[in-house]
Amino acid sequence: MRAGLSSLFFMLCLLGSWALEVRASEGGETKPHNSLPNKKQPLDPYTTADQSNCKTSNNPDIWEEMTVLRDMVMVQKMELLNMESRLRVTEIQADEQKLDLSLTKTSLEELKRNYTAMEESLRTSEKQVEELKKVNMELRVDLKNQTAELLSLEARVAVGDSELQLVMCKMDDLQAQNTAQEAEVTSLTGRMNTIEHRLDSLINVSAKVAFYAALTNSAGVGPYNTATVLKFSKVFTNVGNSYSPRTGYFTAPVKGVYYFRFTICGHTSDGSMGVQLFHNGKSIVFNLQSKYTSAFQYLSNAVILELNVGDELHLVLPEQNAIYDNVNNHSTFSGFLLFNM
Ligand SMILES: *[C@@H]1O[C@H](CO)[C@@H](O)[C@H](O)[C@H]1NC(C)=O
Ligand SMILES: *[C@@H]1O[C@H](CO)[C@@H](O)[C@H](O)[C@H]1NC(C)=O
Ligand SMILES: *[C@@H]1O[C@H](CO)[C@@H](O)[C@H](O)[C@H]1NC(C)=O
Ligand SMILES: *[C@@H]1O[C@H](CO)[C@@H](O)[C@H](O)[C@H]1NC(C)=O
Repeated sequence: MRAGLSSLFFMLCLLGSWALEVRASEGGETKPHNSLPNKKQPLDPYTTADQSNCKTSNNPDIWEEMTVLRDMVMVQKMELLNMESRLRVTEIQADEQKLDLSLTKTSLEELKRNYTAMEESLRTSEKQVEELKKVNMELRVDLKNQTAELLSLEARVAVGDSELQLVMCKMDDLQAQNTAQEAEVTSLTGRMNTIEHRLDSLINVSAKVAFYAALTNSAGVGPYNTATVLKFSKVFTNVGNSYSPRTGYFTAPVKGVYYFRFTICGHTSDGSMGVQLFHNGKSIVFNLQSKYTSAFQYLSNAVILELNVGDELHLVLPEQNAIYDNVNNHSTFSGFLLFNM
C-alpha cells in the first residue's frame, strides 16, 4: 500500500515539474518534451521517495496535486486549442488545395480540349499539307513535262532552223546552179547558134542549085502594051526549087556566084523580039532583034552574077515585042550555082 501511494506521488511530482516547465516556456520558445530526463530525476521510486520535498503532510499535497492537475488540464486545453487552430488552418489549406485542384482540372480539361482541337487542326493541316504536296508533285510533273516539251520544242525549232538553213543553203546552191545553168544554156545557145550557122553554111555550101525551063507550048507571046514578066512554065529541071514557074522569078538560096542564060525565039514576020534581064529590079541585060521574016530567029545571052541570099532574077518581055515557043522548046531560061561565096 505504501509503495502504491509513493508511486502516485512520484508521478504527480513528475507531472508538476513538467507543467512548471511548460508554463515557464509559455510566450517563449517551446522546449521539446525530452527535457524530462534532463531534470536528472532518479528513475527508481524506492530510492528517490525519501529524498522528495513533497512528503511532509497529506492535505496540502492533494491541493498541490490538484493545482498541478488543473494546470495540466489548462495546458491540455491550450494545446487542444492550438491543435484546433492548426487543424482549421490545415482545413482551409485543404479547401484551397481542392479549389486549386478543381481549377487545375478545369484548365486540364480545357487543355485537353485545346489539345484535341489542336490535334484536329494539326490533322487537317497535315491533310492539307499532304494535298499540297500532291498538288506540288503534280505541278512538278507538269512543270517537268512542260520543260521537257519546251526542250523538245526548242530542239525541234533548232532542227527546223538547221533544216531551214540547209534548205536555204540548198536553195542558194540551186540558185547558183540555176544561174550557172542559165549561163551554160546561154553559152550552149550561142554555141548552138554558131553550130546552126556553120551547119547552114555547110548546107549552103553543099546547096545544089540548077534549073531549066521552057516558055510555053501555046505559040506566040505578045506583043503587049506594057513590059511583061515572062513565066517559063515548062519546068524540066529545078534542083533546090529556086525557080518559080508561077511568078517567073529565080531567088538565090545561098550566097554565091551564079551562071544564067536565056534563049528566046521570034516567029512573027513584022515587029521586034526582045528580052530584058532584071536583078533585084535592076536591068542587067536588054536585048532586041528586029524581025522581017516569019522564019525562026533566036536571041541568046548569058550572065555570071554574084548573088546574096534572097537576091532575085527574072526576064521581062519589053512592050510591043513578041516571042514564040511550042513543044520544041524554042525559048528557054536556065541557071545554076557556080560556087558558094
Ligand atoms: C485554349 O485555347 C483558347 C483559344 O484557342 C485560349 O484562349 C486558351 O487560353 C487556351 N487554354 C489553355 C489552357 O491553353
Ligand atoms: C507527262 O508526260 C508523260 C510522258 O512524257 C505522260 O505519260 C504524262 O501523262 C504527262 N503528264 C502530264 C500531267 O501531262
Ligand atoms: C544558108 O541559106 C539559108 C537559106 O537557105 C540562109 O538563110 C542562110 O543565111 C545561109 N547561111 C549562110 C552561112 O550563108
Ligand atoms: C522539050 O524538052 C523536053 C525536056 O528536055 C523534052 O522531053 C522534049 O522531047 C522536048 N521536045 C522536043 C520536040 O524535043
